[in-house]
Amino acid sequence: MTTPTPWWRDAVVYEVYPRSFSDASGDGEGDLEGLRHRLPYLSELGVDALWLTPFYTSPLADGGYDVADYRDVDPRFGTLADFDDLVADAHRLGLRIIIDIVPNHTSSAHPWFSEAVRTGRGRGRYHFRDCADVPNDWQSNFGGPAWSRTPDGSWYLHLYTPEQPDLNWHDPEVRAEFEDVLRFWLDRGVDGFRIDVAAGLFKHPDLPDLGALGTHAPGSPMYGRPEVHEIYRQWRSILDSYPGEHMAVGEVWTESPEALALYVRPDELHQAFQFHLLLAPWSARAFREIIGTCLDSPNGQAPTWVLSNHDVIRHRSRYGTEERSRAALMLILALPGSAYLYQGEELGLPEVFDLPDEARQDPIFFQGKGMGRDGCRVPLPWSGTQAPYGFTSGKPWLPQPADWGPLTVEAQEGDPASMLSFYRRALALRRTLRAALPPTLEWQEWPDPGVLAFRRGDLVCAVNFGDEPVEFQGDVLLASGPSAEGRIAGGGAVWLRT
Ligand code: NOJ
Repeated sequence: MTTPTPWWRDAVVYEVYPRSFSDASGDGEGDLEGLRHRLPYLSELGVDALWLTPFYTSPLADGGYDVADYRDVDPRFGTLADFDDLVADAHRLGLRIIIDIVPNHTSSAHPWFSEAVRTGRGRGRYHFRDCADVPNDWQSNFGGPAWSRTPDGSWYLHLYTPEQPDLNWHDPEVRAEFEDVLRFWLDRGVDGFRIDVAAGLFKHPDLPDLGALGTHAPGSPMYGRPEVHEIYRQWRSILDSYPGEHMAVGEVWTESPEALALYVRPDELHQAFQFHLLLAPWSARAFREIIGTCLDSPNGQAPTWVLSNHDVIRHRSRYGTEERSRAALMLILALPGSAYLYQGEELGLPEVFDLPDEARQDPIFFQGKGMGRDGCRVPLPWSGTQAPYGFTSGKPWLPQPADWGPLTVEAQEGDPASMLSFYRRALALRRTLRAALPPTLEWQEWPDPGVLAFRRGDLVCAVNFGDEPVEFQGDVLLASGPSAEGRIAGGGAVWLRT
């Protein structure tokens, strides 16, 4: 007897950044009700699950990754009742719900941190140090030192903004708290968790200098400490204790595929993001190398493919053309494993590079580590020909470009040549093909080295990374653009049945 494939292993998961998805309240920021109204759109798009980035009570110093209450919805995003309605409606439509869990740090507005600063009670839950000089050489990921001082002069550690103090996972209370938080949301019906900064929870107890070591290098005192695996074994047992197939996917940045594989041992997390494509240039050789590394990674982990998310420049802009963006989607949908899409990529949204400085909100911009991530977080265009494009009845929290009229859902829906129609076709086709696709692939050699091609069963996927058209033979199931006369356009792709 064969075991059925668990749903997450080849799911298409759509990342929702709630603040920018759809606003029902009219305050200019997206909310859970806005998302709930748009669920039919997502169901029609053909995705299997939604991953919601944080919507918890938060001052939004880092877009909600600074949580002040892990068991509540921030009023600007709605209420717990809205969340329950959202889950119920999503499930009715066959969409699973994955939520973000942020265990590395809390908000500085979290009662634990306020109490520690005010009264000194519970200081052991964080990393406080009382010394004259900064305790070590660690830098924040967003720029500047990873240490700030409380009003009474104590240092505290924060690997991100000063408003995100790092928790001390050697404290048993921290551990117990998060186990309870997981249960709280599992009881409300979520299907899984995306674990933020999953490799960061434990720090070397002596907090030694990093020195010349890379932040994520093996042996780093900040990330990838072995103690973290015991936590994920415990979380796995909690997930497994609920009926159904609950899953967890870790955000793990590491320099070593072997280290990544440790997180997905059979009794730990189900998946860990493989972010390599986010950083790869548009090149057949680079893509082939990455795909090979990911598929060969030890422990046979279920691969995860990601082209865009709320932390990076949208791939429509990274790759430069719509054709290439379509080809990249065809590539990841044809690979074994699951695909994580980011809201708006189905509309071909570009990165917005020219936001005025006074509109920017990302702490990365303010801490001096570059322009930041606001450009991929601009609210979605739904309808109409000018801002706010049906996103809100108020003023969008980030300004939308004046030329997004042709990119709205409304404008693209009726047009068979649009990006949205293409995404719908590709996702529908993948759904019909997926049960018959073997879990592995065979590379196909093409005369042209700029073409990356592989076979899975009857399906051949060929991507032309070059600029000139190349010829092919076979029945076209899907093409990224006009594939007239048996040619794949430069930057294009085809799915063939051979
Ligand atoms: C990763 C999240 O994706 C990012 O948005 C956030 O700023 C950091 N973790 C810190 O929580």
